Amino acid sequence: MVQATLFFLVLSLALGAHGLSAKQCNLVGRWVNDLGSNMTVTRMNGEGNFMGFYHTAVTATDSKIKVSPLTGSLQRTNLKANPTFGFTVNWSFSDSITVFTGQCFVDKDGKLVLKTMWLLRSHVENIEDDWKATMVGINVFTRLESQ
Ligand code: BTN
Repeated sequence: MVQATLFFLVLSLALGAHGLSAKQCNLVGRWVNDLGSNMTVTRMNGEGNFMGFYHTAVTATDSKIKVSPLTGSLQRTNLKANPTFGFTVNWSFSDSITVFTGQCFVDKDGKLVLKTMWLLRSHVENIEDDWKATMVGINVFTRLESQ
């Protein structure tokens, strides 16, 4: 009897911790990255597909920066803690596209951190210039404190 109670206690604690972590890694809301860019995820559906807006702090172009739309997917298979995700930003002010892929973590202070890598594809005029068309980098996002 005592063993059964202990078993269910441990099980419910484990499930509770997992549920909390999964809930904490909800991407909806406002984020800022290490470059000072802002990302707002406005909504996510039950399949983990989400949309929002991206305001980059920097650009590889001479164009005036404009807020740009993003669409992405959060991995929900098996509903693991620290879920993986990906999203695409279709820049409104340049002919480039950036794809981000990453994972949501809770850091040692209990704060959410999105660790991402990105590929920025710039438009080039001809196939000979393809070799210089793609940049790669890392961005770390945290939730905007004002939320
Ligand atoms: C462009 O320059 O053509 C569009 C803007 C690209 C901004 C890049 S995307 C990866 C990196 N992370 C950011 O927040 N901004 C830059």
